[in-house]
Amino acid sequence: MAIQNSQSSAAGSASNGVAHPASPFDIEAVPALQIPERVLMGAGPSASYPEALRAMSANTLGHLDPAFVDIMNNVGAMLRSVFRTRNRLTGAVSGTGTAGMEAALCNLIEPDDHVLVCVAGYFSDRMQQMVERMGASMTVLERPWGTVFPPEEIEAALAKMSRPKLVAIVHAETSTGALQPLQEIIQIAHRHGALVVADAVTSLAGCPLLVDEWELDVCFSGTQKCIGAPPGLSPITFNERAMDVIRNRKKRVQSWYLDMSLVETYWGDSGAGGRAYHHTAPSNALFGLHEALRLTLLEGLENRWARHELHSRALMAGLGALRLEPFAQEGHRLWQLNAVRVPQGVDDLEVRSQLLRKYHIEISGGLGPIKGQVWRIGTMGYSASHTNVRLLLSALEDILSDLGYAVEKGSATDAAEAIYRAHESEQGRSASAASPNVADAALSGAVQEGVGETIGSESVAQGVAHKD
Ligand SMILES: Cc1ncc(COP(=O)(O)O)c(C=O)c1O
Repeated sequence: MAIQNSQSSAAGSASNGVAHPASPFDIEAVPALQIPERVLMGAGPSASYPEALRAMSANTLGHLDPAFVDIMNNVGAMLRSVFRTRNRLTGAVSGTGTAGMEAALCNLIEPDDHVLVCVAGYFSDRMQQMVERMGASMTVLERPWGTVFPPEEIEAALAKMSRPKLVAIVHAETSTGALQPLQEIIQIAHRHGALVVADAVTSLAGCPLLVDEWELDVCFSGTQKCIGAPPGLSPITFNERAMDVIRNRKKRVQSWYLDMSLVETYWGDSGAGGRAYHHTAPSNALFGLHEALRLTLLEGLENRWARHELHSRALMAGLGALRLEPFAQEGHRLWQLNAVRVPQGVDDLEVRSQLLRKYHIEISGGLGPIKGQVWRIGTMGYSASHTNVRLLLSALEDILSDLGYAVEKGSATDAAEAIYRAHESEQGRSASAASPNVADAALSGAVQEGVGETIGSESVAQGVAHKD
């Protein structure tokens, strides 16, 4: 389709007889792209590693270029490591987390299959909608948002179903901040002969998720949460049990693009030895994922989980000092997504827009039935840092107090610092050494923008620069 510019005919007619809009489009009026600085502490995306962004700006490679084949192989190997699996079919769907969700479900579900969907939030509701569209006979087990499923409820629901094929559940519900007891749920599902599909969009690399040890059948994620790459790809893994189900389908998967028996050849690990064209690989997005995975594994998954836990504890201590109550069920709260109730009398939107306008900080509000009632604050991946936690807490102290909410200035940051100090003394070494991505050094004034700290051979920039 031709785009008219300011020199085009103002009459709006085109030579091919197709009418164009009457007012010409003035390309000169479109400014060069300028992306504002942001501190991403919402429900996702989180900040991307500078290394991932740099890698994405490299020249594009063709999908069958031998250099690219090596990159794909390494991405596959690193994904297996992050998922803690040996599953042969492990890769990244070319699409965001929702594409991974759709791929996981549509490959396993055939019309009239009996599927249990566990719904306790916005994204499990999305799973329900997909399962319904796939024509399954669906049982929906609902829990209030923010709570987790007692395993016995899952057991009872499965016992009532005849030949349940699948249990679909969100591991880390980003809409509520609750972490489901996935390992127990998998055991129950398997006792009833059902497979488990788990949404790990927010859990992967932010908290324990052990695909092989837990015998999780299918699991998908996103690149933009705890992994530290931009959105656009959905890491996914299928175990042999799930692959058997796919191989023995009565009908072909309705979606051509997401049919794993075809996508398998694209990841090239099908045992046939080669890599075949299925769709054009988004090579630059895969470069970014490569770098984010490499840094994730250099940090070490256990260290990374510990870093997420530490910054969540510090943040929640600070929010507690501001009398903000946690939303999710006690004992089942995520480290990477901290949901707190908006205090009575405080304008949700006003606070969030001041955070963005004055401090460049993004946090998220509530979705669906809890819209306007909660703030969802991410401490995910590259965004999970001392600098960010401190910056947000002091910004909230200022904004809330300006809006007339009683705040003792310094109380939130002091509460967070107490957690960091306790952690340091527990560790017997500095918090920065325990958390390589933490921008602690920035607080001591030692780091200027662009100066890095070393992880292995890699330089990792310190936190997110804030220039106000
Ligand atoms: C738990 C969960 N599942 C699925 C999705 C959908 O992922 P995407 O927006 O990348 O398509 C999200 C996105 O935030 C999510 O948090």
